[in-house]
Order: sequence, then structure tokens, then C-alpha cells
Amino acid sequence: MKARIVVLASGSGSNFHAVLNAIDRGEVDAEVVRLIASRPAIGAIEKAENANIPSVVVQRKHFDSPESYENALLDELSSAKPDLIVLAGFLVQIPVLIIRAFENKIINIHPSLLPDFGGKGFYGIKVHEAVIKAGKRESGCTVHMVTENYDEGPILAQSKVPVLPSDTAEYLAKRVLDAEHKLLPKTIQTILKNQIP
Ligand code: GRF
Repeated sequence: MKARIVVLASGSGSNFHAVLNAIDRGEVDAEVVRLIASRPAIGAIEKAENANIPSVVVQRKHFDSPESYENALLDELSSAKPDLIVLAGFLVQIPVLIIRAFENKIINIHPSLLPDFGGKGFYGIKVHEAVIKAGKRESGCTVHMVTENYDEGPILAQSKVPVLPSDTAEYLAKRVLDAEHKLLPKTIQTILKNQIP
């Protein structure tokens, strides 16, 4: 039986797309069974529709309390029976309830070489601006396990890219994103091979 992946996304979904492409090429032996989006009308949802993957929006503002939101998210995840949950640009902190329910089954991709430039406030273009401001010669991306400490779970894989003297945050972001699109599918396949008989 193929491993079941659920992807969570908040944005354009290019990493999600990279995973789908790798599955199509036979490089990842799995199927994406559901996309959970944190808001409507995002690129990730369009990509799910094009690939005939069921998607659902679970948005905090539609719920009266944090608890009802967390339970709805938990229900969506549980009913998909995932072997692996992939946060691919999901801009919402995963509730502890969910981390505990899916221990060692949730991974995230972050656009820096963690532990550098991770944690609160380091998301999107802000990460790359900070890397350039700090004068770093090297950046990259990290796939890590999601634990209760934000951006601090065990590192599973990293890929490095150079920071060029002429770089703007946008150029660097593009170079890192290209590296993400290779690293994420590769790491997923490694995890699935090691975890699932
Ligand atoms: C990526 O840079 C990822 O590292 C970060 O959010 C971005 C998502 O981009 N967590 P996309 O939606 O996959 O294009």
C-alpha cells in the first residue's frame, strides 16, 4: 500500500507541487490524499484541483474558539489517516494537540539553515532579508521534524546555497526555493523508506 501524505499550505504551493511532480516521476513512493489550506483562494488549492487531490480550508476565523479550530484541524488530519504530514509553507503554528496526536509524523520545510534565522518572525522574505543583512555567505533550507518548540525540532536534512554579493532578498529567495523543491521530495522519500515497511 502506498504511503499516505497530507500536505498543509498557506500560499502558492510550489513545494506541494514539487512533491506531486516527484510522485509522478516515481521518485516518491506515496500519494497525497488531502491538502489542508489555512485560507481560501491560494495557489496550493488550485494545484490540488489540477491534480484531482481533495482540498479543504480550515481557517481559524471560522471558529468560535481555539479549541474548536484545533479539533476541526485534528478531525481533518485524523480522517485522512496520514503516514506523514507535510507543512509546505503553512503559516499557522501547529497546535500541541496535533503535534502529540501525530508524534514524529509532522515535518516542515523552512527557508534557512536552521537553527539560524528560525523561530518567531522568521518567515517568507523576512528570512532572506535577515540573512543578507547579517552578511552571510551561505544560506539554504531545512526540513525538520515538528515538535512543540517552534522551528526547533530535529533537523532531518539541509541543502546549502551561496549568498552572492549582488543578491537581493528576492534573488536569494528564488535560489533557496529551487533548493527546497529538490530537498523536500528527497527527504520525504527517505523518511517513508525508513519508517514504513
Ligand atoms: C517556502 O519558502 C517554505 O520554506 C516556507 O514557505 C514557503 C512556501 O512556499 N515555509 P510555497 O507555497 O511552497 O511556494
